[in-house]
Amino acid sequence: MSPKKVIAVVGATGAQGGGLVRAILNDKSGEFTARAITRDVNSPKAKELATLGAEVVAADVDELDSLTRAFADAYGAFCVTFFWAHFSPEREAAEAANMAKAAKKAGVKHVIWSTLEDTRRWIPLSDNRMPTLKDKYKVPHFDAKGESNKVFLEQGVPTTLLHTSFYWDNFIYFGAGPKPGPDGVLALSFPMGDKPLPGIAAEDIGKCALGIFKANGEYIGKSVGIAGEHLTGTQLAAGLSRALGREVRYNDVPPEVYRSFGFPGADDMGNMFQFKRDFNSAFVGARSLEVSRRLNPELQTFDRWLDRNKSKIPLE
Ligand SMILES: NC(=O)c1ccc[n+]([C@@H]2O[C@H](COP(=O)([O-])OP(=O)(O)OC[C@H]3O[C@@H](n4cnc5c(N)ncnc54)[C@H](OP(=O)(O)O)[C@@H]3O)[C@@H](O)[C@H]2O)c1
Repeated sequence: MSPKKVIAVVGATGAQGGGLVRAILNDKSGEFTARAITRDVNSPKAKELATLGAEVVAADVDELDSLTRAFADAYGAFCVTFFWAHFSPEREAAEAANMAKAAKKAGVKHVIWSTLEDTRRWIPLSDNRMPTLKDKYKVPHFDAKGESNKVFLEQGVPTTLLHTSFYWDNFIYFGAGPKPGPDGVLALSFPMGDKPLPGIAAEDIGKCALGIFKANGEYIGKSVGIAGEHLTGTQLAAGLSRALGREVRYNDVPPEVYRSFGFPGADDMGNMFQFKRDFNSAFVGARSLEVSRRLNPELQTFDRWLDRNKSKIPLE
């Protein structure tokens, strides 16, 4: 029997990487083993992954040598950055470059880089429909990822560019869920107009990534976009109303109002929604539900995700 191929997973204790580690460990074909990368092998989440059967190793995406060691002898590497840990697009780009260099040095055969669009391709800095942020970005947490696609190509690493979607889990963990308005009625507020927002259960990203690794190199050198469903704000609110048994309205706030909400990153998120709204056919068109389902036959719909997660959504 040939030895199992190692997939080294960055962000293994988080949403995307955690989904992939669990998908590998649950995969009955047993083609791969999971090497979970964490900064702290003794954290409860890291220990849980070890208990489930993952090899757990320490590395930091800010330290090239530690990443190179963590990628050694791996067939595959799942690479993701953590914009919201530091809010710096430059640091995110440096982290992506570290991962690309480490993958090259370690001779990794297939990298999946979890990326997003460089929105400046559609809305250049000179376009005043949305403000320029941090001097040279429109949507900093998108642009730095898209700009970093080239570092994987420059290193000559066999790479799949994985374009992810808005996690429905943001309704639980990211403060993006329905909030009571002055009249007490719950409202879901974001500036998508009547345009669909590609969304996905965060754990399905890892399952789709496993599908990509299992496809015998078919997706190397390609871009793949994934989503569970493309739903409008009105459809998301209707799904939430059904699941919660309580009225939820969709509140289509203008992007400039969203940008002024005042939480850290509100300007970045406001620009992000405006980009997804105003360049909707390109953004939605890059995320095929059919391809996502082929990669991950267990792909969840929003209703299915709600069935499993509605009790976790904070409503205050
Ligand atoms: N929220 C969304 O809707 C959405 C949609 C598409 C894309 N994204 C992107 O997804 C990315 C985040 O991925 P995620 O949601 O999977 O992250 P996450 O759940 O926040 O997990 C982050 C994990 O990464 C690890 N980590 C943080 N800093 C690290 C470092 N310097 N070196 C090594 N590991 C580090 C941490 O693990 P340890 O503490 O164990 O080291 C943590 O568990 C962001 O860049 C965001 O822009 C988000």
